[in-house]
Amino acid sequence: MNSLSLITLCCVVVVFGGLPFSSNAQLDPLFYSKTCPQLQSIVQKVLGDVSRTDTRMPASIIRLHFHDCFVQGCDASVLLNKTTTIDSEQDAGPNINSLRGLNVINDIKTAVEKACPNIVSCADILTLAAGISSVLTGGPGWLVPLGRRDSLTANKALANQNLPGPSNALTELKSAFAAQGLNTVDLVALSGAHTIGRARCLFITDRLYNFDNTGKPDPSLDKTYLKDLQKQCPQNGPGTNRVNFDPTTPDKLDKNFYNNLQVKKGLLQSDQELFSTPGADTISIVNSFANDQNVFFQNFVNSMIKMGNIGVLTGKKGEIRKQCNFVNKKSSKLDLAIELLEGEDMVSSI
Ligand code: HEM
Ligand SMILES: *[C@@H]1O[C@H](CO)[C@@H](O)[C@H](O)[C@H]1NC(C)=O
Repeated sequence: MNSLSLITLCCVVVVFGGLPFSSNAQLDPLFYSKTCPQLQSIVQKVLGDVSRTDTRMPASIIRLHFHDCFVQGCDASVLLNKTTTIDSEQDAGPNINSLRGLNVINDIKTAVEKACPNIVSCADILTLAAGISSVLTGGPGWLVPLGRRDSLTANKALANQNLPGPSNALTELKSAFAAQGLNTVDLVALSGAHTIGRARCLFITDRLYNFDNTGKPDPSLDKTYLKDLQKQCPQNGPGTNRVNFDPTTPDKLDKNFYNNLQVKKGLLQSDQELFSTPGADTISIVNSFANDQNVFFQNFVNSMIKMGNIGVLTGKKGEIRKQCNFVNKKSSKLDLAIELLEGEDMVSSI
């Protein structure tokens, strides 16, 4: 319970200020068609090869993209490792010991650099890899708008603030999405990604044994599913065991997530909130996705594209990183001169 309330606390969403800039005006699926025509096939090849032995990887990549976009936009900020100047988002509560796929993105980047050096951003590679991950798991495919550039900064505090938590109530989930310019339909559609991948037991121990300090399990959890989960997540276990989000087709991006919610088999509390919050406007959306996979897929595509457009850097903003885990070094003589001048300024102003 302690670790869980800590996680909940750090993820409470505070909405201040305006919406992040969100425009797709400059993005274009054909952005690299002349400068890197092999891009799509390279991403497909590397990710396809990895996924054959690591069936969970597409899920991990989709989540990595989500965690990038919700923190200062889809700018590959989540990929930046800790350095003297970077407070890495990878160390934020929702990411620590949890993110996967960083080195898969690095492998794709290496292959892409070989074919078309200094052209393709890490932010675009991650977004494209997320789209291909959908196809690899049996989900829909779409033309991924491209042309993002990579950030020069990361923001660990913002990662703690913006990313929703597994014990969030529906109102908190809605406001976390609204803060990114995403609406209730986007929330329900994107949550459908929880039809693939795994979650650690520590995020559901309270639901299984002591919900809201009642000493009892969460009443909005199916009894058979509860027993099954209790077996996988023993009461005083380490919390690090992993459970499938979807017990029946764990690696298939299908509409099962919504059918599971209808029968009280949502894994996270935040998942089940979408269907079990009394009178919620999300219930009819869950039902419509549960009834027709095409309706889910259409909405999933639409919302993935919308999420991929959040706060993108385009034109001359940011840079094209050479290595996705680090910003480029200032190497040109011009940069060095500027640095020296700034240094002089600082000295003379003392
Ligand atoms: C609505 C609020 C959301 C909450 C509270 C939430 C929370 C979580 C948590 C707690 C985990 C397990 C992490 C771990 O065990 O280390 C997880 C996994 C995952 N999330 Fe979410 N998530 C949300 C939305 C999303 C969205 C919008 C997407 C993508 C569109 C997404 C995609 C995934 C995937 C695919 C996994 C499995 C990753 C893997 O197996 O490596 N989630 N999420
Ligand atoms: C960056 O950090 C991740 C772990 O967070 C690690 O897997 C990766 O290898 C690191 N990248 C480099 C180039 O050191």
